[in-house]
Amino acid sequence: MKLIFATQNQHKIKEINQILGNDFSTIGLDSLGFFDEIPETQSTIEGNALQKAQYIWNKFHMPCFADDTGLEIDALNGAPGVYSARYAGVNKSFDDNCNKVLDELKGKSIRSARFRTVIALIIDAKEFVFEGIIEGKITEQNTGNDGFGYDPIFLPEGYNQTFAQMSSELKNKISHRGLATNKLVNFLKVYPNL
Ligand code: IMP
Repeated sequence: MKLIFATQNQHKIKEINQILGNDFSTIGLDSLGFFDEIPETQSTIEGNALQKAQYIWNKFHMPCFADDTGLEIDALNGAPGVYSARYAGVNKSFDDNCNKVLDELKGKSIRSARFRTVIALIIDAKEFVFEGIIEGKITEQNTGNDGFGYDPIFLPEGYNQTFAQMSSELKNKISHRGLATNKLVNFLKVYPNL
């Protein structure tokens, strides 16, 4: 089965395709000749995931899904949360975002945080959402070179490697996006009208 993955983020496409395995495959927006930025102007992660999926559904009327993720840091009252992509400012890099978080947590002992992903699926004009959460801690410094975003500063609970030090297989198995994607896959396997 083919689904449009409503994202321009190549890191996410690679991760999701690894998780989806052989039963499902994604159609990239590029192969549909669509290169515009998809609006995400809502105030919640769920709202943004739905907005992105609705935008693509309205254009193509094909089964599609979108994800939205936030890093929620307890000592920062849940920030950066829905603003994770542009925490250090528009057009800033992943490094800038990580360094801003590290600066804000300097000297703080409470470093608990979680990644939350919501995947919104639209199929037959019906909407479904799937959530994945992983708990962890923000490290004292950037550690590891793999992954993307806040991976170098996120230490998942029960592990002694940041997401940026882990193999992609391990990250996909335990991560927020991995958990939400598994829920999506389990749903699609039983959804009748495809
Ligand atoms: P998005 O809105 O879903 O693209 O996610 C917002 C931001 O969260 C991204 O720009 C990344 O900085 C960060 N992010 C999303 N997923 C991950 C992840 O798996 N690891 C680290 N950071 C992530």
